[in-house]
Amino acid sequence: MACLSCLLEYGTVKIIVIRNKAVGSVFRLIQFLIILYVIGYVCVVRKSYQVKDSVISTVTTKVKGTGFTNISGLGAHVWDVADYNIPPEGESSFFVLTNMIITPNQMQSSCPESQAKNVSFTKYFDLPVFDQLNASGHITLLKGIQTGLCVNYSETVKTCEVLSWCPLEIDTDLPENPLLAAAENFTVLIKNTVTYPKFNFHKRNILPDVNSSYLKQCEFNRITDPHCPIFRLKDMVAEAEEDFQTMATRGGVLGILIDWSCDLDFPEHYCGPKYSFCRMDNKNPENNVAPGYNFRFAKYYKTTDDVETRTLIKSYGIRFDVIVFGTAGKFNIVPTIVNVGAALTILGLVSPVKSAVLGLGV
Ligand SMILES: *[C@@H]1O[C@H](CO)[C@@H](O)[C@H](O)[C@H]1NC(C)=O
Ligand SMILES: *[C@@H]1O[C@H](CO)[C@@H](O)[C@H](O)[C@H]1NC(C)=O
Ligand SMILES: *[C@@H]1O[C@H](CO)[C@@H](O)[C@H](O)[C@H]1NC(C)=O
Ligand SMILES: *[C@@H]1O[C@H](CO)[C@@H](O)[C@H](O)[C@H]1NC(C)=O
Ligand SMILES: *[C@@H]1O[C@H](CO)[C@@H](O)[C@H](O)[C@H]1NC(C)=O
Ligand SMILES: *[C@@H]1O[C@H](CO)[C@@H](O)[C@H](O)[C@H]1NC(C)=O
Repeated sequence: MACLSCLLEYGTVKIIVIRNKAVGSVFRLIQFLIILYVIGYVCVVRKSYQVKDSVISTVTTKVKGTGFTNISGLGAHVWDVADYNIPPEGESSFFVLTNMIITPNQMQSSCPESQAKNVSFTKYFDLPVFDQLNASGHITLLKGIQTGLCVNYSETVKTCEVLSWCPLEIDTDLPENPLLAAAENFTVLIKNTVTYPKFNFHKRNILPDVNSSYLKQCEFNRITDPHCPIFRLKDMVAEAEEDFQTMATRGGVLGILIDWSCDLDFPEHYCGPKYSFCRMDNKNPENNVAPGYNFRFAKYYKTTDDVETRTLIKSYGIRFDVIVFGTAGKFNIVPTIVNVGAALTILGLVSPVKSAVLGLGV
């Protein structure tokens, strides 16, 4: 019976108006803070009345420029985009070769292993750690398959003979200045199309007000030409607060960041790309083991007597990674109601909070 009566009860809250300046001002202060939070943070900073969407994007690139080198072993050589831009497809990540160690005329044969042009037994301490000097005083570098013979490499050095692409590459003396110094003046055209699928929004970084005659001769400049999608490599590296020639010597990775964050409650032409540049690979001077960026590739051909020959190129250069990111927001009734509801709920908490505060204060 007692249970039935408690089930059939109705409780209500008794409202007491307290005419007290301290209580009243605490109440108003808490209300004010909550309204400040709702308007300032929820509405202005977080824009919680909007639906959000992340950008989907595609990027193609086209590098332009010609360089010239005159290196021993290769002779005078003009470098055009097919030579230095790897891979040639024009992906969002592209590599521009700036420095190299060229080993021409390599053939499959046997030859003495070597490390540097000027290695002697007294200097073996200078060898990189992964090279070894075995107990009988032979330098072994594991750059090929050992034949088991030891041969004179020079007057003072005897090394193991290997089967390999001979002559072996000597990669210890990298040119101190990048061979393809002219790469600083190369330019790249970046074409970027973005989509916000939730809002059916599509746009290119070549903006509608850019005409083709302008596009033929413009060059990105943060102040004068902020919408030109053609970038000089040197300028991008400089914006990342790096020196091009220094970075080009050992190679590195540079990020081209395109920010498409937009508020689509504003007209469409306010939504445009914002470019920034930063060096991505580690250049912390305290952790400077294996700095830079390099890889090897070879060009194969056959001599007149049908012997397979190759030119090995250990290439150093800058890899440019185009990274597109962004979120767009647009007013929508559902998050608005949810957030207004949440704000009202917090306002409803003012009384208990105030009671607690006053309770502590008394
Ligand atoms: C390349 O350098 C060699 C000597 O190092 C020189 O004889 C030759 O004229 C140079 N070629 C060009 C095109 O400058
Ligand atoms: C070779 O090394 C010796 C002693 O380490 C040095 O005196 C000489 O100048 C070097 N030669 C070359 C061509 O680097
Ligand atoms: C050092 O290398 C030579 C040539 O490969 C080989 O004959 C010799 O046995 C090696 N010595 C040791 C201790 O491995
Ligand atoms: C290798 O060098 C040693 C000493 O420098 C010399 O006596 C020997 O004849 C050389 N061998 C060859 C095959 O040149
Ligand atoms: C790049 O171009 C500028 C201006 O045209 C020129 O002064 C500079 O020497 C060029 N750099 C190289 C490495 O050729
Ligand atoms: C292209 O645009 C530039 C400036 O953006 C303007 O000066 C030029 O007259 C335009 N050319 C044509 C053919 O519309």
